[in-house]
Amino acid sequence: MSSDGMPGDPAAETREDHVYASVASPRAQEMLDLHYDTGGDLYKMWASPVSVCRAILLGWARSGHPAQLHYGWDLEHAASLDEAIHETTRQAVDLLQLAHVATPRIFEPGCGIGGAVTAVAQRFPNATVVGTSLVASQIDTARSRASAIGLGNTEFHVGNYLSTGFEADSVDGIYAIEALCYTPQAERQALFSEMFRILKPGAHMLVFDGVSLRDARNEEERGYIADVMAGWTIPMPCGVSEFAGYAQTAGFSVLRQDDITTHVAGSAQRIKTIARYLLQPLSCLARLPGLSTLLRPLGFGSALHARRFVSACLSQQKVFDHGLGAYYLHLLRKPLRH
Ligand SMILES: C[S@@+](CC[C@H](N)C(=O)[O-])C[C@H]1O[C@@H](n2cnc3c(N)ncnc32)[C@H](O)[C@@H]1O
Repeated sequence: MSSDGMPGDPAAETREDHVYASVASPRAQEMLDLHYDTGGDLYKMWASPVSVCRAILLGWARSGHPAQLHYGWDLEHAASLDEAIHETTRQAVDLLQLAHVATPRIFEPGCGIGGAVTAVAQRFPNATVVGTSLVASQIDTARSRASAIGLGNTEFHVGNYLSTGFEADSVDGIYAIEALCYTPQAERQALFSEMFRILKPGAHMLVFDGVSLRDARNEEERGYIADVMAGWTIPMPCGVSEFAGYAQTAGFSVLRQDDITTHVAGSAQRIKTIARYLLQPLSCLARLPGLSTLLRPLGFGSALHARRFVSACLSQQKVFDHGLGAYYLHLLRKPLRH
């Protein structure tokens, strides 16, 4: 068993059953709904303590919680976990080089509950920021957050980022944070072709995501990888050169591919700490008949999913520590002529 402190977890015995061949399949929808709808409130714990309490008491919309489901940037130097989470989005959008565009249309494929979209829309009032997710309840949450903040420059769509329905050459910049990794291998080329199609010539796409660096060498390492894939409902992430190959085949110029794991290391450690000292005890309590109903609103509606989520949170840092995977920045540009 790979994850610390979870020997004999029944989640491990069946963790292959999250795999899906196509994001358009009913199986993918079922798995993503389980993760982001039934289990979505587990992410309320991913913020500074005050924001966690406010989200539990007030709900997502009015809590001021960052509502961003990604690693924080340089947590060791940040004023708070909330700030580190916001900083990741700032770093991503800064690389899109939008200063010269008066009214940019910015797209976030896989926008989750829209925390990054609303933060970008607040930062760039002249922009229109568009997010999509396959999970309808996430889009409901995103819309109610944007409306509670009073934003008029966001758009949220339930949909598949492999076929956005957007016009060709209509988007000034795309940033994708920990979202494109959900695409199974067979659909990755189609994903890059769709992102290329909708971007304006000369525009940039920025991706922050986990990548695979090498195969596991033993059962222990296979366990870490399997925990992360099952608990976060993702297929095996692609390698760095594989990513570049899809991008170039679609027509992109690959400007940068940087290992930025050190920038999220403090945040990976914090995820592990929250999982071990908060989520793991709560997931044990959630198995008790009297308490399961009480803990359901915190994302513990499926005991198996919650335990898998905890295992992923514990094992993700092992994946980094063992050099099995890394966190990468990929900066792509659609050439002016193609
Ligand atoms: C880890 S969350 C990241 C959310 C967001 N980028 C953030 O940083 O807060 C991954 C998101 O990708 C979405 N997703 C996965 N596959 C998708 C697809 N094919 N089309 C649209 N959204 C997808 C999920 O529904 C989820 O909202």
